[in-house]
Amino acid sequence: MNMQGTELHMFPVVCRTYQQPDETLNQRVIESMEGYPSQQSNFPEGVITSRPDLHKVEEGPITELRQFFWDCLAEYRYAYKLYCDALEISSMWFNYAPAGSGFGHPLHRHPMSYLSAVYYLTPGAPTFFDDPVTPRTYDTLDVFQGDKMDCEWGINEKFDAQENKLILFPSWLRHYSGRQLDNYDRWTISFNVFPCGSVNVGPFEMPQLKVSIE
Ligand SMILES: [Fe+2]
Repeated sequence: MNMQGTELHMFPVVCRTYQQPDETLNQRVIESMEGYPSQQSNFPEGVITSRPDLHKVEEGPITELRQFFWDCLAEYRYAYKLYCDALEISSMWFNYAPAGSGFGHPLHRHPMSYLSAVYYLTPGAPTFFDDPVTPRTYDTLDVFQGDKMDCEWGINEKFDAQENKLILFPSWLRHYSGRQLDNYDRWTISFNVFPCGSVNVGPFEMPQLKVSIE
């Protein structure tokens, strides 16, 4: 008997990617960030992170990039027919890992947000998204699988840092970035998103929640 099973993947996590079309924009954004308030965070990992209010900057190339993000969020809301008036950026910041620094982000999630995003201003170390299901098996039934025995960090999906690529993912999805060991700087923009206006309108045309953010 020659039996061949078929793998069935159920309940996948849906993320969505976009491509920013202006090839000149990233370098202009990086140069415009010179002097913007920033500090090392995520110790001991050490990535340099800006003040998280880039979504409020009123002039310069970052406003062009923010417009691209807004367009993506409008497409996202329409694509999934979300019951809210808008998806708004509630915080936005840059992440800078200097060339050869070995800086990276530890495993984390973004609480108090609906969607989160990473946008790659440069290539560099990849982002890893942690399998949300695997941790349920820790300390219980765990039969080692071939080359997956070393699962200290769990099973994950690697997403290469590609310039001009934006990825939107659910904020509860844990992720981390690899250490920047290449001989060039790694720059990304991250932001968090919240549904705003009338959310989940139901009977009597009343929403479950009305939201506005500052
Ligand atoms: Fe993150």
